[in-house]
Amino acid sequence: MSIAFRKELRDLKPYVPGKPIESVMKEFGIKNVIKLASNENPLGFSEKVKEILMKSLDNLALYPDGNATNLKEALSEKLDIDVDNILPSSGADEMIDLIAKTVISPGDEAITADITFPRYISTTKMMGGTPIVVPLKNFTFDLNGILNNITNRTKLIWICNPNNPTGTIVTEKELMDFFEKVPENILIVYDEAYREYVTRDDYPKNSIEFVKKYPNILVMRTFSKAYGLAGLRVAYAIGSKKIIENINKVRGPFNVNSLAQIAAIAALKDDEFLERIYNLNLEGKNYLYDQFKNMNLEFPPSEANHIYVNVGKDAQEVFVELQKRGVIIRPMGGTWIRVSVGTMEENRTFIEKLKEVLGM
Ligand SMILES: Cc1ncc(COP(=O)(O)O)c(C=O)c1O
Repeated sequence: MSIAFRKELRDLKPYVPGKPIESVMKEFGIKNVIKLASNENPLGFSEKVKEILMKSLDNLALYPDGNATNLKEALSEKLDIDVDNILPSSGADEMIDLIAKTVISPGDEAITADITFPRYISTTKMMGGTPIVVPLKNFTFDLNGILNNITNRTKLIWICNPNNPTGTIVTEKELMDFFEKVPENILIVYDEAYREYVTRDDYPKNSIEFVKKYPNILVMRTFSKAYGLAGLRVAYAIGSKKIIENINKVRGPFNVNSLAQIAAIAALKDDEFLERIYNLNLEGKNYLYDQFKNMNLEFPPSEANHIYVNVGKDAQEVFVELQKRGVIIRPMGGTWIRVSVGTMEENRTFIEKLKEVLGM
């Protein structure tokens, strides 16, 4: 007799992360490799964060503060919302997991888009729920399409804004109209992992106002992208006390490690670092847009730190050929790839190698 694993796991596949630099170096026997595959921060993280981290290395024998009290207080002050409306997590990945565990039961439906961040779908399935996937319209979340798919089984709606991988946004006005129409018994998760990169004025600047207005909205943010702390795993959600209280029941006791808590607090204070990142990303995006236009490659303009681009050739093949030349990107479906915006030097190297691979 073999172990009977849960039937919900049968069709699930492990998440495939962006390929690490070391494994490409080893596989292809090359020394210089750049990774533009996981939307990480090309400048690393703030020096101020580094300083405090170096001073905190002696305190690792003790468990972290399981309540992340200081981090919650720092966020509460910065965002002007009560500490009871905030819940830190070990990356937004963990929060997505916790949300699914909190609201999805077998038979429930959760609506999201195709294509978007894949963990919304896998965690829904993991809990025995059915993902309802609404195709993007013009590379963008189709909010009306989502409304049309609400049934009495709908428990959850996952919105990614800006969307990963397309980098497109829905506007504040479109969102407000949408929120008005979604019944209050459905949890709307609003994932803003890339909010710090947005340039457009019609993007919601302060999503905390959504939480204050609607009791069924949970905003998710992360320190992994613009703050450059992906390796430490720290993010947070903001929502009504009732939502936070329930997610807190399924959370592990020490889910956010001590260094992550300390780093996040310091990161929140360094707005200058965020500004540098914003400017570098914008410069990089504009350069890549120009190059893609010259190469006649189709792409939707991105409000994030990554661009979804049609390379007109099998993406998997392009992925392998670029790796041989020391560049890691993310192959998506068909002929589409996603490339993260790097330093200007990395962006230039990527274009040079892409041209080589595409025979241009
Ligand atoms: C839209 C989106 N949400 C969540 C995550 C997970 O972020 P974290 O590193 O905080 O787990 C990512 C990471 O790529 C993402 O793109």
